[in-house]
Amino acid sequence: MREEIINTKNEAIAQITEAKNSNELDQLQIDYLGRNGKLTKLIKNIKELSDMEKKEVGRLINDVKNTLVSTLNDKKNSLKENVREWFDPTIPSLKPQIGHIHLITKAIKEIEQVFKQIGFVRVRYPEVEWDWFTFGGLNFPDNHPARDTLETYFVDAKPHSKYGAMLLTPHTSSGQIREMQRVKTPPIRMINIAKCYRRQSDISHYPMFHQFEGLVIDENITVVNLKGTLDYFAKTFFGADRVTRIRPYHFQFTEPSFEVDVNCGVCKGKGCKVCSEKGWLEMGGAGMVHPNVLKNGGIDSKKYSGFAFGWGVERVLMMKPNINIPDLRIIYTSDLRYLNQF
Ligand code: PHE
Repeated sequence: MREEIINTKNEAIAQITEAKNSNELDQLQIDYLGRNGKLTKLIKNIKELSDMEKKEVGRLINDVKNTLVSTLNDKKNSLKENVREWFDPTIPSLKPQIGHIHLITKAIKEIEQVFKQIGFVRVRYPEVEWDWFTFGGLNFPDNHPARDTLETYFVDAKPHSKYGAMLLTPHTSSGQIREMQRVKTPPIRMINIAKCYRRQSDISHYPMFHQFEGLVIDENITVVNLKGTLDYFAKTFFGADRVTRIRPYHFQFTEPSFEVDVNCGVCKGKGCKVCSEKGWLEMGGAGMVHPNVLKNGGIDSKKYSGFAFGWGVERVLMMKPNINIPDLRIIYTSDLRYLNQF
């Protein structure tokens, strides 16, 4: 039996060495080590041997089996190494996808630039903020509807002993008092561009959006300075043929308060579908800073006065000529088929 084992081993090794591909090797594996393989049959015969022989032959056959397995594996690997894939070094490589800045980020940069040119300083303040900076310090009464949980997102955190509840800023006006506290002595020329959050979602509203807030405080600041700044923005951002108008309105933290319109870029004020036949598009709020707000910011309201405005980045972008945003929500879905056009 010993002889038979050695012969089987030699035969197997010779065949494995000569195999030309992995199919032949697979077949040899079956022929020798499979369920009815030659070596397997010999293993089955061991049980007929005497106890003494069983031990000795068992060890031999085990060694042979290990040798065959490793010879098969070595041969398999060496066949693999011999397969050289044809490589053409002249084929141009795959170009990595090059991204670009999101259209809202672009708009923010542009707005920042427009205001920097007339001496405004870009600042940012917390977007998770206390009630006092957002509402209380800005003259909102306790029962104002903006303080309702249906309007504003409140954070489930322990209220501040002085500043009240924690919330997500629904407007950038929350930066007004923070800026007064930072600068302390006017002049102040702030442009605060940040994320805002409100419970809203339709084709022109999204729960997260951006506002830019202007705040100017100095001696002898009047509505004339406000109107000049609005016109400058409209002409620089939308085009030289655009003009603005202000209408009386109400905000808690400005007095007098205004709603600011820019003439429609499509009909230039005549009235068309884009402006619902009004000739004007609404940009957002503005006004002269309320003396109580100056006081809350630690500024002498007898000596200083100021104006503020706060508009939506998404909204002014939608009003730009040649920018088509049929549904505001689409710009935050990261659908590259849409975003790549900007
Ligand atoms: N914060 C106001 C809003 O979100 C806009 C505003 C800003 C009005 C500054 C007046 C002055 O609607």
